[in-house]
Amino acid sequence: MSKGKGLEKGLTSYGDTEFSLFLRKAFIKGAGYTDDALDRPIVGIANTGSGYNPCHGNMPQLVEAVRRGVMLAGGIPIEFPTISIHESFAHPTSMFLRNLMSMDTEEMIRAAPMDSVVLIGGCDKTVPAQLMAAASAGVPAIELNTGSMLTGSYRGTRVGACTDCRSYWGMYRAEEIGDAEIADVNNQLVASVGTCAVMGTASTMACIAEALGIMLPGGASAPAVTADRIRIAEQTGTQAVAMIAAGLTPDRILTADAFENALRVLLAIGGSTNGIIHLAAIAGRLGIRIDLARMDAMSANTPVLVDLKPSGQHYMEDLHKAGGLPTVLRELRPLLHLDALTVTGRTLGEELDRAPAPFAQSVVHTLDNPIYAQGGLAVLQGNLAPSGAIIKQSAASAALMVHEGRAVVFEGAQDLAERLDDPDLDVAPDDVLVLKNIGPVGAPGMPEAGYIPIPRKLARQGVKDMVRISDGRMSGTAAGTIVVHVAPESARGGPLALVRTGDRIRLDVPARRLDLQVDAAELAAREASRPAPQPEPGLRGYRRLYHETVLQADEGCDFDFLQNVSMTQRVPRDEA
Ligand code: FES
Repeated sequence: MSKGKGLEKGLTSYGDTEFSLFLRKAFIKGAGYTDDALDRPIVGIANTGSGYNPCHGNMPQLVEAVRRGVMLAGGIPIEFPTISIHESFAHPTSMFLRNLMSMDTEEMIRAAPMDSVVLIGGCDKTVPAQLMAAASAGVPAIELNTGSMLTGSYRGTRVGACTDCRSYWGMYRAEEIGDAEIADVNNQLVASVGTCAVMGTASTMACIAEALGIMLPGGASAPAVTADRIRIAEQTGTQAVAMIAAGLTPDRILTADAFENALRVLLAIGGSTNGIIHLAAIAGRLGIRIDLARMDAMSANTPVLVDLKPSGQHYMEDLHKAGGLPTVLRELRPLLHLDALTVTGRTLGEELDRAPAPFAQSVVHTLDNPIYAQGGLAVLQGNLAPSGAIIKQSAASAALMVHEGRAVVFEGAQDLAERLDDPDLDVAPDDVLVLKNIGPVGAPGMPEAGYIPIPRKLARQGVKDMVRISDGRMSGTAAGTIVVHVAPESARGGPLALVRTGDRIRLDVPARRLDLQVDAAELAAREASRPAPQPEPGLRGYRRLYHETVLQADEGCDFDFLQNVSMTQRVPRDEA
């Protein structure tokens, strides 16, 4: 075993190097390892199984398959736990904990001896947290996704979390279905372990990881409970060993070319708005800044090709049957950097040449017959969002893409909860709903509350969509004319804080504008009379760290001290 490999890596400091190794070996031999095993390359396996994370419910099978793959290739697998975050079991939000998981994962990769690492993630924030960690830790790393859940069936209609969760809940709020129906559909929405069934944030990040080249080709789409998923796990373990000899560290894979490929894919799959935040955070670890204005220019010539909910009609398992992401990448080929290196040691172009031959299918459209002519996401600028805002235009209502209306303002999540369904709420279908103080700092944790429900009195009248604006996020599974990630956020002095009920707001998606139609003098007067923000009393621990160091949405909501110390590149580059 060469110096600085395997067990010799990162020795605990006792002031005597040889004693440190002697002691380490003595302890691990307590678990029954032989010297033969311990002389082999070590592949760490980040096990994110948790009783609180059903999206990772197939973790035991995946770990077993990865271990098999590692040993088939002559390595020794050693698994280790990290925290695990599930969307619905994380208070206040999973986003609040993403950076903590990234720190946990990064420091475990650094602290424990491993020559490469398999990162098993799936639920929304877990893959971004692991890729942020991998980018910073610098050890050869390969992402393995847990895979999507199966779809269920409710009275003959196919359903899956979580676009259908929202549509059925909307019907329940509008009193179109009753208590018995909503309870029945609740049993069918999540038909197995695995991640959400649609192109939500989890599926988006799986596709992004594959597009970045840090996951095996074809690794994004296999459902959690399939033999394909287990085979991918075994192959991932095998590849993790090969990456050690090849010295395939994340900085060789996560390049500007790779991030541009990932942005293309994000736009072409109708991916989650959250994907931008996570890509910005991952890129930031490597000194690369995502330029939102240039990304919007890229969106203009990147059509949506994938017909999955919420932008389309299919589910993730259908994308897998259609050939998975390689089918999308093959179609996007003229727009991609084919020289980008992947975890296989081959380039993206070489992998596409090796991919199975195309066949007739209806889930992935062609470039000349897209689902939506432009990219799924659009970046808005204007006096209401000086640092930008995002709308998922492919899942918005065409009739509301240019809309001017009266603002109906809610000061925060609590205010929204108290007044939204008040029968006396002064609100009309063409009003613009504004929710403040749900940004990275404001809530805290930037909750997915940007999907403001239609006020019940309007829902009962059949209103299905309204323009909604906030500094929060929305689930990747949600649809509607919803503007999110308004930056700077209201709790950090953004102009959103100045909006009052009765103001006029104009949204013009084709022109990429979001403007508060209040003159500058009035806005200056409102700013001058705004009380200075008060420090939150009694903040301690992780929450204090979060509060003091979290960046805004356009910078990825990472902690400022976790980003690379020098941001030297911007993507997309002009020529992208
Ligand atoms: Fe885990 Fe949707 S809740 S992926």
